[in-house]
Amino acid sequence: MLEHKPRLEGKVAIVTGAGAQGTVMGNGKAASILFAREGARVLLVDQVEERVQVTLETIRGEGGEASVYVADVTEADQCRAMVEAAVQRYGRLDVLHNNVGINGPGSVVDVSLEEWDRVMRINLTSMMLTSKYAIPRMASGGGGAIVNISSISAIRPRGMTSYTVSKAGIVALTQAMAIDHAGDNIRVNCILPGPAYTSMVAEGMSDEVRDLRRQASPLKIEGTSWDIAWAAVYLASDEARWVTGVALPVDGGVTIDSPRR
Ligand SMILES: NC(=O)c1ccc[n+]([C@@H]2O[C@H](COP(=O)([O-])OP(=O)(O)OC[C@H]3O[C@@H](n4cnc5c(N)ncnc54)[C@H](O)[C@@H]3O)[C@@H](O)[C@H]2O)c1
Repeated sequence: MLEHKPRLEGKVAIVTGAGAQGTVMGNGKAASILFAREGARVLLVDQVEERVQVTLETIRGEGGEASVYVADVTEADQCRAMVEAAVQRYGRLDVLHNNVGINGPGSVVDVSLEEWDRVMRINLTSMMLTSKYAIPRMASGGGGAIVNISSISAIRPRGMTSYTVSKAGIVALTQAMAIDHAGDNIRVNCILPGPAYTSMVAEGMSDEVRDLRRQASPLKIEGTSWDIAWAAVYLASDEARWVTGVALPVDGGVTIDSPRR
């Protein structure tokens, strides 16, 4: 009889943005929980300690292994210290899951330069910084996997231009890092979530808008953070050993066909 082997057994993972706003499940939180369920030891990184403590309690309650690290991933020295903390606590680093991201509403006419720079720094520069310090550690341990959270906004703009540009930058960063570090056996992929019902978007959303988002998908089912997180488990695992530089939409088919607003 085949036995289920945990898909991330023996691996050490960092998840950024491992907490969640509000009470609805978030992408970083769901990925942290699934990584731990699949056998990884997880460094849960967030700038808001109370949020990430909730994720830790869930994982510990299930018998998983994780610990909290409070950091702002837009700061280089904090990213360096975060990577060192993972190696000190768990002895190695195999997976970096770059999940931190914020919205960026409006057109170039609407947006201020300060807000544009802020969105780029949080959504895109942060992933360069975490990777900058994680990659040498992964390489010295024999390889690893980086999973970046982009958005379908990268390929289907919808009135959030700074967000779209930052998320398209993540696709380019993913492909560039995939080429640069393939020789070190480091795979780099990104996920493009569609209009899932998650912590980032749930607050204040009316039932009508929620249903419109559900109906936008050819499958007519509502996506959740678990859908995004299962894709992350696959890309982080050795099952994806021949997959690198990919931008994977997880969107119920929205990018192929959905009504425009
Ligand atoms: N929900 C959707 O429909 C959807 C669609 C496309 C993409 N996404 C992407 O999913 C990701 C967010 O998912 P989530 O559900 O985990 O969101 P969330 O906002 O609930 O959680 C993100 C966490 O990141 C933390 N954070 C923010 N800035 C930080 C920083 N500088 N340093 C450290 N931590 C920081 C926050 O404190 C928060 O706990 C984003 O990258 C977002 O663009 C979501």
